[in-house]
Amino acid sequence: MSHGNLNRELWSSRIGVIFAVMGSAVGLGNFLRFPGQAAQHDIAAFMVAYFISLLIMGLPLALAEWAMGRYGGVRGFCSAPGVFRVITGRPGGAYLGLLGVLIPMVIFQYYVVIEAWCLGYALRYFSGQVITSDIAKDHFVKFTGQAGDGLLFGGGSPLLWLVVACFVLNLGLVYFGIRRGIELTCKVGVPLLMLLSIVLVVRILTLGTPNPEFPERNVMNALGRMWNPGGTEAFWNSLMNPGMWLSAAGQIFFSLSVGFGVVITYASYVRHNEDIVLSGTTAVAGNEFCEVALGGMLTLPAAFLFLGAAVPLGSAMGLGFVALPGLFAMLPMGHIFGGLFFLLLFLAALTSSLSMIQPAVAFFEEGLGVSRKVAIVLVCAICSAGTGIVIYFSGDLKALDTMDFWVGTFCIFLLALIQTIVFGWVLGSKRAWKELRRGAALKVPRVLLFVLKFITPLVLIAVFLLWVHQEFFNFGTEGLHLGRLTQLANDRTVQIAFGWIILVVCILALCIHLAVERWKQEDRRK
Ligand code: PHE
Repeated sequence: MSHGNLNRELWSSRIGVIFAVMGSAVGLGNFLRFPGQAAQHDIAAFMVAYFISLLIMGLPLALAEWAMGRYGGVRGFCSAPGVFRVITGRPGGAYLGLLGVLIPMVIFQYYVVIEAWCLGYALRYFSGQVITSDIAKDHFVKFTGQAGDGLLFGGGSPLLWLVVACFVLNLGLVYFGIRRGIELTCKVGVPLLMLLSIVLVVRILTLGTPNPEFPERNVMNALGRMWNPGGTEAFWNSLMNPGMWLSAAGQIFFSLSVGFGVVITYASYVRHNEDIVLSGTTAVAGNEFCEVALGGMLTLPAAFLFLGAAVPLGSAMGLGFVALPGLFAMLPMGHIFGGLFFLLLFLAALTSSLSMIQPAVAFFEEGLGVSRKVAIVLVCAICSAGTGIVIYFSGDLKALDTMDFWVGTFCIFLLALIQTIVFGWVLGSKRAWKELRRGAALKVPRVLLFVLKFITPLVLIAVFLLWVHQEFFNFGTEGLHLGRLTQLANDRTVQIAFGWIILVVCILALCIHLAVERWKQEDRRK
């Protein structure tokens, strides 16, 4: 089998790769999605489901991705198609890696738009303008173009230019390479964003009762809104609710960037005997700290201080972009704190979005044999079309939601399943075990392999089926709903966004076909 590129670029140090993977993991998921999801349920029950998902799915899959990435990397392959081809030992194995390029690349197409929202808000606050609570909602709707479709949002929003700026920044940093681009950005960005969130948490927790007219809107009650369990009955009811388990498991995947193919690519740039167990668990632990200890103390408690019991749940975006500006408008030096908050979100998003481009760039380089420059031009061409769809069809954020649903939720369960099977069954227990333990100072419990081989895939299948049942065949009082499928059949924007995803699948399948042929030829020449 061909050797791929054995001179691939490597991370400069262990701390470098840990920050890079943490940079990918810590993102909008930590500061917006987590508090939004958790507070919709009985918090104690949610946290039980959350930590069980972390232990039986998140952490094992993360380690499997690290091991498969290093396995492929030392053999000269850095993208999911290349890595799966090496592991399966069959040219066709490359097709199993299609989702590992598709998912991050499509997520990038809408994530970069939200990144641009954050940049826009940060710039506005730093220029000294606060967004008062009476205009917060209106401003958000106008700024993001939710009121209707079209490119220029009625001419009033600078969003298009901010998206272009974020695009150039992301692609430019990836162009600088693994060390000088991604690693350097994350080495600066991750500590900085942690510092920013600590400053903000301290500010929020020392606010006392910011509005004396409403004495119940105080810090203690704000923390209670996020962290008080609802009582024994609520606890057990929630624990029996499959929907809550789905959202906890989904949150774990999204937040750890596991099940996307991103960690496979990042881990392929480590050395042969790098301690992946240590680096992998450190990155997971770092993400959990940022999510539970920082994210959980920030967004929702802050929104409560301003709105009290009326704090909106359900929409993480509403929480961050509508409720929090109200609080900042009330605070002395509110524009500075608002600026810091949106800068924090922007940095978190940037270090994540970089990791969504690299898998595709690595695939085009090694699969089509093109230079990094050409690979980036290809990624730019595909992604700008997708992002174009997201910002043109911005009414009700429908295109964004459609891509997020089909790729960010539906496809990740599939890829996670493929990964456990490739790791536990195709690579096989013996090789998988050896691969995991090489260079590891921590003793990996053998039960991990059992979990990865049997428990994780079974739970994944169960969760997936439950979820499909809930999403598509919701047998409620109104009879049979085909929810998402009906939407797909009837709504033009949904059809366009879905059609776009299918087109990208076809483009990637074609590229994988070309890559497989090229790799075969290389083999023959040897
Ligand atoms: N983990 C990131 C977050 O929490 C999101 C992400 C998804 C990053 C997919 C990379 C790949 O926001």
